[in-house]
This record gives sequence, structure tokens and C-alpha cells, in this order.
Amino acid sequence: MNLHVPVRIGSFQARGNLFLAPVAGYSDAAFRSVCADQGCDLAFTEMVSSEALTRGHLKTEVLLAREDNEPDYAVQLFGSDPGVMARAAEIVAERWKPAVIDVNCGCPVPKIVKAGSGSALMRDPGRIRAIVAAMSAAVDVPVTVKIRLGWDDSSINYLEAAAAAVEGGAAAVTLHARTRERGYAGTADRPAFYRLAAAVPVPVFASGDLFSAAAAVDILSGGSEGAPAVAGVMFARGAMGDPFIFARARAALEGLPEPAIGDSARLAAARRHLELSLRHYGERTACVEFRKQACAYLKGMQGGAELRRRAVACSTAEDYAGFFDAWERAIPGGGVS
Ligand SMILES: Cc1cc2nc3c(=O)[nH]c(=O)nc-3n(C[C@H](O)[C@H](O)[C@H](O)COP(=O)(O)O)c2cc1C
Repeated sequence: MNLHVPVRIGSFQARGNLFLAPVAGYSDAAFRSVCADQGCDLAFTEMVSSEALTRGHLKTEVLLAREDNEPDYAVQLFGSDPGVMARAAEIVAERWKPAVIDVNCGCPVPKIVKAGSGSALMRDPGRIRAIVAAMSAAVDVPVTVKIRLGWDDSSINYLEAAAAAVEGGAAAVTLHARTRERGYAGTADRPAFYRLAAAVPVPVFASGDLFSAAAAVDILSGGSEGAPAVAGVMFARGAMGDPFIFARARAALEGLPEPAIGDSARLAAARRHLELSLRHYGERTACVEFRKQACAYLKGMQGGAELRRRAVACSTAEDYAGFFDAWERAIPGGGVS
């Protein structure tokens, strides 16, 4: 059975069900483009401030840029005021023409939560409803939400939060199956994906512990007998330094052997990733920001520790050219694998 199938999100049809999650500091145009090369069907921007957008802060714009190989993307907004979120959605829809606009109801960062945004919204499903309703009335673009299980273990309310979002007009719901209290620790509650899929009339996307192609197959194939299907999966930490997870997941969903990814392919992706980053940011920012990406690409590589030490000292494009050459020399066979 081919599990790699298109997904309808309101008026938009995503070509498949493998998504890149919104990940602050990672899901920018450069990384989304590298993931698109590997078969990512739809990528989400990192969360963008609705307040910053409506005040015309230019710093936000770089988060919304995209590359030519990314015809469709989803923009994620955060905020707590329905009117501001609706205005931000209008600005984004008009200028950046996303396929989907998503509402962040899961960010656990104290600064965000204190302002009533992100996972603070899990404590106020009525506000989720009002935000989605205001945004849906303001734009033709499908509005979706990304929620958590709840605020903490004593207040698990994802079914209520999702129902409120759907009442407001949400076209899909992503569940990060952890509470705000858990942050990113512990195991995601996989059965919760199925409980949610059974409870709402819109597609449900799964987020949490998507670290392998097998996890995508397991979740999309239903998990347990008779459970309604989860419509899509989102890779987050599992894609950092490994955009190939999309190619492997796609093959696995199609019942094909997962492609073996050689060291040279990894190096080529990292080189392209930096090249695209240099295009979007100034050299200084791109080079500093790319250090963490370089380390992620080197994860699990033999001799990676020495290369990582070198990566974190790179400050210019020239430094990286030397670093990439050293990496190439470290590949058994001189980079021809
Ligand atoms: C560094 C980092 C930044 C994140 N930024 C966002 C964000 O901007 N918006 C969002 O909805 N989720 C964000 N997330 C959560 C991820 O989208 C995802 O739901 C979470 O990492 C669980 O998936 P995983 O266990 O497969 O990594 C972030 C996660 C991490 C680790």
C-alpha cells in the first residue's frame, strides 16, 4: 500500500503528507529549500510575530523569504490578539502568498507565554477559537493550528483546544504530543494522534519524536487496528542535519527500500545549505548561524568531533570553504562515495 498520498488542507492540496515542522532558528528559506530537494511536501516557517508584522518590523521579513524550489509553504504566526493576528494574516497573505497560515499554540518559551501567546493559548481554548475565526474571516488562505497535549499533565485538553480551533474554522490541526511542561523531553504520546484524528472532522498532523522513516510509516499506517488515519507527519529535530529523512520516509511510505545516503551527499547538502544561507543573510550572520547546522550535518560521522571543532570556529565563507575541504578529505575514498 502506498502511504505517501496528497493531503487536502481546506482549499489547498499538499502534494504529499511529509512536512517540515516550524522550528525557530532552523526552518528558514535555506533549510526548507534543502528539504524540498529531498522530497519535503510542505514546509512551515518558524513562528513569526504577528505584532512585529503589523508594526512593519523588517527583521521579520527574512523569516518569510523562500526559494524557487518551494512553490508552496506554510507561514506560522504567533500572537494572542485576534485582531492583530487577523491583520498579520492579511499582510502575509497579500505579500508572501502562503498556501497555509498556521497559528502557534505550543511554544513554551517564557517570554512568549507571558505575552499570552504560544502554549498559553492552551489554557484558553475560547481565545484559540476567536483567533482562528478572525484570521479565517480576514483571508482566503486556509488557517491551521499547532497545539500541544495541554499546559501540564493535570490539564490535558488537546481535544477541547482542537474542537475550539475547528469551530473557529481551522482547516487542519497539528498535535505536538507533549505538554508545555514537558518542553521537548520525554516521549510523545502517540495514541493521542489517533484520539484526535477520531475526534475532529479535519486532517490531523502528527508532531513529536519523528526521528526516522519508520516512525512516519508507523504513524501514517494507523498504529492500531481501526484507528482513523493521521493525515500527515512533521519532522522537526529529526530533520536537523538530515534533510534526507524526507527521501527515506518517502521511499518507506511507497514501499521502496530506503536510499542509503553517502557522506558525499551529506556534504553536498551542507554546502548548498550554506550557499543559500549566504544569499539570505549577510556573511557574518549566515556564518555564525551555520555553525549549529554544520554540527548537525556531522552528527554520527566518523571523525566528526574534529570537524565540529573546526566548524564552530568558522566566521567567514572562506573559513567554511576550508572546513568543507577538510570534511571532503575525511570521507573514506576522498569524497567519491
Ligand atoms: C529549537 C526548536 C524550535 C522550535 N520552534 C518552533 C516554532 O517556531 N513553532 C512551532 O510550532 N514549534 C516549534 N518547535 C516544535 C517543533 O515544531 C516540534 O513540534 C517538536 O520539536 C516535536 O517534534 P520532534 O520531537 O520530532 O522534534 C521547535 C522545536 C525546537 C526543538
